[in-house]
Amino acid sequence: VAQILDGRAAAAALRKELAARIARLAERDCTPCLTMIRVGEDPASLVYVRAKERACRKLGVRSTTLALPPETSAAALRAEIARLNADPAVHGIILQLPVPETLPQEELIAAIDPGKDVDGFHPVNVGRLCLGQPGFVSATPLGILRLLRHHGVVVAGRRVVVLGRSRIVGRPLANLLSRQGADGDATVTICHSRTRDLAEISRAAEILIAAVGRPRFVTAEMVGAGAIVVDVGIHSLPGVGPGGKRRLCGDVAFDEVARRAAMISPVPGGVGPMTVACLVANTVAAAEAAPGVAPPGGGRA
Ligand SMILES: NC(=O)c1ccc[n+]([C@@H]2O[C@H](COP(=O)([O-])OP(=O)(O)OC[C@H]3O[C@@H](n4cnc5c(N)ncnc54)[C@H](OP(=O)(O)O)[C@@H]3O)[C@@H](O)[C@H]2O)c1
Repeated sequence: VAQILDGRAAAAALRKELAARIARLAERDCTPCLTMIRVGEDPASLVYVRAKERACRKLGVRSTTLALPPETSAAALRAEIARLNADPAVHGIILQLPVPETLPQEELIAAIDPGKDVDGFHPVNVGRLCLGQPGFVSATPLGILRLLRHHGVVVAGRRVVVLGRSRIVGRPLANLLSRQGADGDATVTICHSRTRDLAEISRAAEILIAAVGRPRFVTAEMVGAGAIVVDVGIHSLPGVGPGGKRRLCGDVAFDEVARRAAMISPVPGGVGPMTVACLVANTVAAAEAAPGVAPPGGGRA
């Protein structure tokens, strides 16, 4: 049976590193601050925002949430974003997606200061990633790379298949894996809903990453013997689990695939904890780079 890619342990290790960086920022009178803008009452968004608030609280990162009614106008949102862009105490800004269909989502994302765009969705940050330049990258792909690294998996030179091409997961992940240098140099294939012979392609993967948004989509016959499988999907199952918790599954049929793979990430406890920890990491990085934050060991800049 496959070794577990333990996201809780890897996230705990990352949090330890972050605690040290946050302490150094405190010496420079800086507390990292993340502000989330949530428009409407999308139930999944409520869960995600609470998880991010909890993660920030655990590490002493300040977080605030602007909960706005669904009828909020684009002009009012632009004004809020401009106010947050100009506020030196705010280091990271997230526009929680999806926003109501009446709002111009892309335009609003582009209104966020790229230096505070800790989700990495701003066109400038997406462009920098494509060019291999430093910038903010979406937290889930960062978390996946870190999860693999934590378990000693080297991706360089390996055949990686990414199932899914979304802006949040598949696309940035494929970019990161295929770029030159650390955590990259993999040979990457992206699959999507128009891919022919998907099972054949996925079976050839040494590392298979499933981000299709379909419960238990990846079955054992789609996985090569000894492959490393990362499951990004999160789906609620009916009923309640132990301790009154939600019952979840991923995009991978865990039990059957675990008997074929060499390593596999579970749901819950795999990519999820890494995503939240990497979002806090992006916020800390934004604070470290913020103008006006004194350099280490010095006075105020
Ligand atoms: N663990 C975490 O922290 C985390 C973070 C983000 C997302 N997620 C979860 O990860 C999953 C994916 O999220 P996402 O935002 O990337 O989803 P998404 O935007 O819905 O994208 C899904 C991708 O899968 C492809 N796809 C759908 N059906 C397919 C099929 N039958 N065969 C091949 N490809 C297919 C789609 O292809 P087309 O482009 O052709 O439509 C699309 O590219 C979801 O379950 C989501 O909840 C988890």
